[in-house]
Amino acid sequence: MRRPMIAGNWKMNGSPADAAVLARELRLALLDLPAVDVVVFPPYLSISGVVDTLKGVDISVGTQDIHPEDGGAFTGNVAGPMIRASGCTFVLVGHSERRSYEKESGSYLARKVQAALRNNLTPIFCCGETLDDRESGRALEVVRTQLREGLGELTPTELSRLVIAYEPVWAIGTGRVASPEQAQEVHAAIRAWIGTTWDSGTARAMRILYGGSVKPGNVVGIMEQEDIDGALVGGASLKAETFEGIVRFQSSRS
Ligand code: PGA
Repeated sequence: MRRPMIAGNWKMNGSPADAAVLARELRLALLDLPAVDVVVFPPYLSISGVVDTLKGVDISVGTQDIHPEDGGAFTGNVAGPMIRASGCTFVLVGHSERRSYEKESGSYLARKVQAALRNNLTPIFCCGETLDDRESGRALEVVRTQLREGLGELTPTELSRLVIAYEPVWAIGTGRVASPEQAQEVHAAIRAWIGTTWDSGTARAMRILYGGSVKPGNVVGIMEQEDIDGALVGGASLKAETFEGIVRFQSSRS
C-alpha cells in the first residue's frame, strides 16, 4: 500500500514573516493529520522560520532546488549539506519552471538527484510535457525521456528513496487541470516504464504525485485514480484553508 503524499510548493511567494504565519496556520489546521504525508517547500529565506514553527508536528519541510555540488565557489546557490543542516528532509528537482526559465538540462538534473540522495534528502523529481508535446502526441515520449535522463543511472535502492511528480506544463498555474483519466494514463505509463527499466516491485512501491492546478474541488477525482498517489500543489498551497482541504481529501470522499 502506498501512503498518499500531499506537497505544497510555495514558489517565490511571501516574506519570511508571511511564511511563518502560514506555517503556524497549517500547524493548527493539521494537528490531527490524516494518514497522509505532508511536505511544504517554502522559499530558502523562509526555511528556518518554517522549520522552527513546524517542530514537533508531522509536516516535513523541503527546498525548491539544490545545487549538484556539496559546497564551493557557486555564487547564489545552496548545497545539500546546508539544506540538510537547516532541518529539511525533501528537495524538489526538475520543476518545469526551473527546466524552462533556468534552462536546466536532463544531465544537470541527474546530478541534483545524486546530490539530494548523497545528503539524505528525498528528491521529488518532476516531469511533464508542454501543450505542444501533448497536441503532437508526444506526451508519453517526452515524460519517459525526462525520467531516463534524470533517473536512468540510479540503482533500484536509490530509486526507492525518491518520489516522482507528473506535472503537465499546460496545467501548472493555468486553472486547466488534466482530467483524472489523462493523468492516470501518464501515471500508469510511468509505473510501467519503471517496471521494465528496473523491476515490478520497485514500480509498485513508487509514489507518483500529480501536479497542475490541484484544488480541494478536484483532488478527490484525481486521488481516486489507481496510479496517482498524491498531489504537488502550487497556488492552492498558499492558503492554509485550501491546502488543508486538499490534505483532507479522504474525508471529502467518504
Ligand atoms: P499549481 O502549481 O498548483 O499552481 O498549478 C503546481 C506546481 O507548479 O507544482
